[in-house]
Amino acid sequence: MLPSELVKYKKNSKKIIALTAWDSITGSLAEQSDADLILVGDSLAMVCLGYKSTLPITLDNIIYHANAVSRGFNKKMEEQPLLICDMPFLTYQCGEDKAVESAGKIIQNTYAKAVKIEGAEPEIQNVISRVIRMGIPVMGHLGLTPQSYLSLGFKRQGEDIESQEKIKREALILQKLGCFSIVLEHIPELLAKEIKDELKIPVIGIGAGNYCDGQVRVSADLLGLNDDQPPFCKPIIEGKKLLKEKLKEWVANERSNLF
Ligand code: KIV
Repeated sequence: MLPSELVKYKKNSKKIIALTAWDSITGSLAEQSDADLILVGDSLAMVCLGYKSTLPITLDNIIYHANAVSRGFNKKMEEQPLLICDMPFLTYQCGEDKAVESAGKIIQNTYAKAVKIEGAEPEIQNVISRVIRMGIPVMGHLGLTPQSYLSLGFKRQGEDIESQEKIKREALILQKLGCFSIVLEHIPELLAKEIKDELKIPVIGIGAGNYCDGQVRVSADLLGLNDDQPPFCKPIIEGKKLLKEKLKEWVANERSNLF
């Protein structure tokens, strides 16, 4: 699928469901679940590589993991979900040339058809505009933007009128710059609704309520694989607990079965 097809989902009132993936197992699971979109998010730094934030992940890491994800796909090319990669910290913040080069490397070396960029400060707007003009579709990301956690915190955004107005303004700017879709993370439900009603491009929420055009979740959160669960994601299974118990059981059994 191409990003332009995702835009049609909103026109046709079709909802978008997205999952993250970081290796061939999660890529295969996400693809087999019939998700419309698979994001190789920089959250993999935390849920797969054990870092405390998304900041340490590099461009080479994202490319490496994106290729593992697509090796897990089984469907025919034309039936595969849209694959999008996050632009890691410092691959776009330092300017337009570097951003085009980084986004280009992702597109050149993976099956991703678009990149996701966090934020909409004036410098980031220039970067997004240039990447799009160079032919690479961009998904925006507003609200809780984990790459800015040192200044904004890992907490819900849009709690006061001023920051709500800023998020609304930035969402409109991202649409005007040509983003084909926007992720809204951890903001009040009614703020997300207002933005979704105002925008023509799909608004995909995570911790932003049920009025968005779609939902995205970090698969590890959904599967209960993490020790720290975000407040907005109730796991569908207690994956880590279950797997730990089963492995423990197997280890104990095998030990006692040995002659
Ligand atoms: O990195 C990621 O997984 C993301 C999602 C939270 C949207 O950006």
